[in-house]
Amino acid sequence: MTEGSDPQLTSGARFTGRVAIVTGAGSGLGRATATRLAAEGAVVAVLDIADAAAEETATAIVGSGGRANSYRVDVSDPDSVSGAVELVAEELGRPVLLVNSAGIGGFSRTEEQSFEGWQRILGVNLTGTFLMCKAVIPHLLDGGGVIVNIGSNAGIMAQPYSAAYSASKGGVIQLTRALQDEYIRKGIRVVCVAPGSMDTPLQSQFTFPEGVNPKAFAKVMSPVGSNPPENVAGVVAFVASDEGSYMHGAIVSVDGGLTI
Ligand SMILES: NC(=O)c1ccc[n+]([C@@H]2O[C@H](COP(=O)([O-])OP(=O)(O)OC[C@H]3O[C@@H](n4cnc5c(N)ncnc54)[C@H](O)[C@@H]3O)[C@@H](O)[C@H]2O)c1
Repeated sequence: MTEGSDPQLTSGARFTGRVAIVTGAGSGLGRATATRLAAEGAVVAVLDIADAAAEETATAIVGSGGRANSYRVDVSDPDSVSGAVELVAEELGRPVLLVNSAGIGGFSRTEEQSFEGWQRILGVNLTGTFLMCKAVIPHLLDGGGVIVNIGSNAGIMAQPYSAAYSASKGGVIQLTRALQDEYIRKGIRVVCVAPGSMDTPLQSQFTFPEGVNPKAFAKVMSPVGSNPPENVAGVVAFVASDEGSYMHGAIVSVDGGLTI
């Protein structure tokens, strides 16, 4: 095989010079995605509410020869979002890719779910995704671009004791479709990548409610086990790249067969 025809080499720099914003990039899938995009040449804006973690991601990327800046953002706060996106555009240039990976969750009996807890999960996962899209879309309209929203198997199937989380992720799926329908003729692609179980710190937020039968959770455990976030980041990079250019409004499950 010649160098030029090796798919690993030819797909190795699909984002050269492209400015990408990744939320939740201080940890887990967001961090893996920021790292992957930077390794493929992107200039990455690493956004997270945990500013030290975001800085750690950016420093690691720069240490490996990539380009990244970190920014603190609370995706559930409209002012924080618009301020961060403005600053990114000013410092790094026009963003052409947005990956919404910031997310929170937890298992709870619905009758015990606090109103504040419900509001917080919806506020980060769904409203946060909307606010980031709203702030970045004007830049994408100015020459095109891609949004990748991170959903979940929980947005497609019923996940036990997860009313708020499942509702938020179901909302992310429909938000993806609605945005794609609205912007399909305007040079913007919107795709949702819906992972199943990944080994990340988020999973520690999902402790079983007291007294529930753990067997109830068997349906969200894939027979092929859990997936490293780096594998999902590879899928995000594919759909965000020009190789995914015919993917519009797609919901891409990466869940070890949970939703078949
Ligand atoms: N881990 C899983 O099993 C799993 C499965 C399906 C879907 N997901 C989804 O993948 C995405 C990434 O999750 P992860 O597993 O990498 O979790 P994680 O906890 O490792 O990372 C989430 C990041 O989001 C950040 N964040 C939280 N609230 C924020 C806010 N208000 N503003 C900005 N940043 C905020 C956190 O600080 C953290 O760095 C989430 O949307 C999650 O719902 C995860």
